[in-house]
Amino acid sequence: MVSDLSPIDTAKFVSAKRALDYVESGMRLGLGTGSTASWMVRILGEMVREEGLKIVGVPTSDRTAQLAVECGIPISTLNDVKWLDLTIDGADEFDGNLNLIKGGGGAHLQEKIIATASDQMVVITDTSKEVETLGAFPLPVEVVCFGWETTKALMEEALMNVDVMGTSATLRLDHDRPFVTDEGHYILDLHLRRIAEPRKLSLILNQIPGVVENGLFIDICDVVVIGHGDGQVEVRDINSGTIEHELIDVIERDNLFVDIAD
Ligand code: A5P
Repeated sequence: MVSDLSPIDTAKFVSAKRALDYVESGMRLGLGTGSTASWMVRILGEMVREEGLKIVGVPTSDRTAQLAVECGIPISTLNDVKWLDLTIDGADEFDGNLNLIKGGGGAHLQEKIIATASDQMVVITDTSKEVETLGAFPLPVEVVCFGWETTKALMEEALMNVDVMGTSATLRLDHDRPFVTDEGHYILDLHLRRIAEPRKLSLILNQIPGVVENGLFIDICDVVVIGHGDGQVEVRDINSGTIEHELIDVIERDNLFVDIAD
């Protein structure tokens, strides 16, 4: 029950709930990945099952696809729908320009493809993700497995020419083995601490052979919905320049609180 939720889970829940106000019947929706996006998928499932909302979801990861199916949401693929009306997804960091770091859950490749193919991207988050300058969160970079150590060395060399505070890269592990993405690649996490020029860094990283995609989302997010532990949300729209505050009415829904975890 909501009253049993921690402040951080309440924040994630209310941001997800408020973001779903952007959804209209008939939409093709990108479904994000992560613990905040999991709340969104659960609430969306309830809207489909109990309110008759007609949408088709395009998941950004295998685990979101599985959750969406469990929640009764009809899903499709990007190849089938071609273009999306809206994507709702979480983020690991966002700045004042609504530029993001994503990929903490290892899904940023599909997340970026889907968000870029959407008319609008709404990011759901809590206050802990807001930063003045991106980079405290290690930047995930998806790389092909072949020659990844050479790719890592090239990346560290390239970082010497960018305004960052750290240049080390570490291979992401899943217990004692390399973490493998849904697309069969590895992830290198870049410990940069501060990214002064995110657009330049994104271009430089993606030019290195072996790099598939980095976790910087520049000029992709339109709206960020920031949840607070007391049920308040702040909605910032980068296009209209508006900032709205609202208190979300959190109604008890026992079925939403089973197995919520990323
Ligand atoms: C998944 O790869 C990520 O991009 C997530 O969207 C991001 O890590 C946010 O996840 P949480 O909502 O769990 O913090």
